[in-house]
This record gives sequence, C-alpha cells and structure tokens, in this order.
Amino acid sequence: MTGREGRTLVLTGASRGIGHATVKRFAAEGWRVLTCSREDVPAECRRDPAWSDHIVADLADAAEAERFVAAALARLGGAPVHALVNNAGVSPKTPYKERLGCLNGDLAGWHAVFQLNFFTPLTLARGFAGALHAGKGAVVNVTSIAGHAVHPFAGSAYSTSKAALSALTREMAVEFAALGVRVNAVSPGEIETAMLAPEYENLVPRIPLHRLGTPDEVAGVVFRLCTEDFGYVTGAEIFITGGQHLF
Ligand SMILES: NC(=O)c1ccc[n+]([C@@H]2O[C@H](COP(=O)([O-])OP(=O)(O)OC[C@H]3O[C@@H](n4cnc5c(N)ncnc54)[C@H](OP(=O)(O)O)[C@@H]3O)[C@@H](O)[C@H]2O)c1
Repeated sequence: MTGREGRTLVLTGASRGIGHATVKRFAAEGWRVLTCSREDVPAECRRDPAWSDHIVADLADAAEAERFVAAALARLGGAPVHALVNNAGVSPKTPYKERLGCLNGDLAGWHAVFQLNFFTPLTLARGFAGALHAGKGAVVNVTSIAGHAVHPFAGSAYSTSKAALSALTREMAVEFAALGVRVNAVSPGEIETAMLAPEYENLVPRIPLHRLGTPDEVAGVVFRLCTEDFGYVTGAEIFITGGQHLF
C-alpha cells in the first residue's frame, strides 16, 4: 500500500521532537510513512492510518539497525522509497550538565554516540539504496549547528559525530547521484524539543531571530527538500538556526 500521493517516507526517531513533527507533515501531505524508534508511536497517533508502519528498534545497536532495514524492506514488499530521513540522534549529558569533552567521559560513550549519529545513517542509506533508486528518492540527514563550531553545551562526541555526518552527506551526494538519489542535510540550531535543557534559553540573545525554533519549522524544510522544488539540489546543508550559525 502506498499513500495518497503514492510516495513513501522512511524516518528514524519518530516518537517525539523533530521526527514526530516531520512524520506528521509528510502524512498530512498524503505520504505513507514507515518509522522507527525505541518507543512505540505516541498513543494519539496510533489511529492515523497513514502512520501504521512503525518498527520498534534500538538503532544504537548495529545489528538492530540491520534488522530494522530488513524488516522495513519486507513490509515494503518491493515498493520504492521516495525519502529517507536519518533523524534519530543522541546528545549525552553529564549529571552536572558540563560538556562531555575530550578529557572526560568514557570512550565507549563516544562509540555509542557515533554508532547512532553516524554509522546508522550510513547503514540505512546503504540498506535502502535500491528502494531509493527505484523511487528516484531523496535522503535528508539531520546534522547540527554543533557540527560546525564549538557549542557551549553540546559535547565533543556529539559535535564530531554531527560534523562527520555533514561530511558523509557530501560524499553520499556524489555516490548516490549515480542512482538518481539526492542527498542533503538540515542543520538545526536550538529547536524546542526534549533534547533541549532549560539552560538553552540563555542562548536566545545570540540568535538573530531572537527565539528558539520549532519542530514544525524543521519538518517543513525536510519535507520541501524531498519534493521536486529541490530536484536540482544535492549535497546541500540547510541551516535552520534563526541565523545563529552566522557567528
Ligand atoms: N533539538 C535541537 O535543538 C537539535 C539541534 C540540532 C540537531 N538536532 C538533531 O535533530 C535530531 C532530532 O532531535 P530532537 O531534538 O527531535 O530529539 P528528541 O526529542 O530527543 O528525539 C529523538 C528521537 O530519536 C529517537 N531515538 C533516540 N535514540 C534512539 C535509538 N537508539 N534508536 C532509535 N531511535 C532513537 C527517539 O525515540 P525513542 O526515545 O523512542 O527511541 C526520538 O524519537 C537529532 O539527530 C538531533 O541531534 C536537534
């Protein structure tokens, strides 16, 4: 079964925040959505027929990521994929809210952050490459402003994993072009989700638009990137920061 528009989205990290808003946007536009997170779909969304294909998986585990790809491809039954949004990510904090840096924290923690934030997007892009080729689809990687400059709160493992994902977007854009698949990234600044702690409000004075962003504002950009309006755009990274990245 495909959605009203005959298009299918695969998105990770659908249970809340930016991913939840993005799924709601695609579903409202008539797309079929196939989603994943460790939690089930929020109760209020379970009766939405556009959102019936949710697979519970822990994508921080390499074997689970492979299992998710296999399960999703089985559900698709050979149908094409028109968009893959690599959204699930983790930004671990210390109990004292200090930055998790190069000199503190367990190195195993760095591996876990890179597994979810970097290797899972690569695993999924590889796994869905054939279905994306069939759909002449688009990949959107959700990176971060923290991948581009030192951030006051984000830790080094998170920031470097997102910088690596930005670089992966560039490399994938060229390799996936041969498949007719576009690959872009969105780089959010401070967006009001569970990932943001109250101290992030202190950053508002240095944001030119003088406010935090909303998940819907990220979802709108992700959606448009997956449409024909952006048919000649690949390898781009769009900052959704209210101008904060300019400093
Ligand atoms: N919020 C911001 O200001 C901001 C800024 C820059 C970049 N970003 C990026 O935007 C993306 C979404 O962030 P958000 O703020 O919406 O985060 P969030 O509210 O914490 O939501 C994260 C989503 O990812 C899922 N997830 C987390 N770990 C997972 C795992 N191991 N396996 C499968 N799913 C997992 C979560 O679901 P479960 O817990 O149910 O698994 C949830 O649906 C992330 O990549 C983040 O780095 C956010």
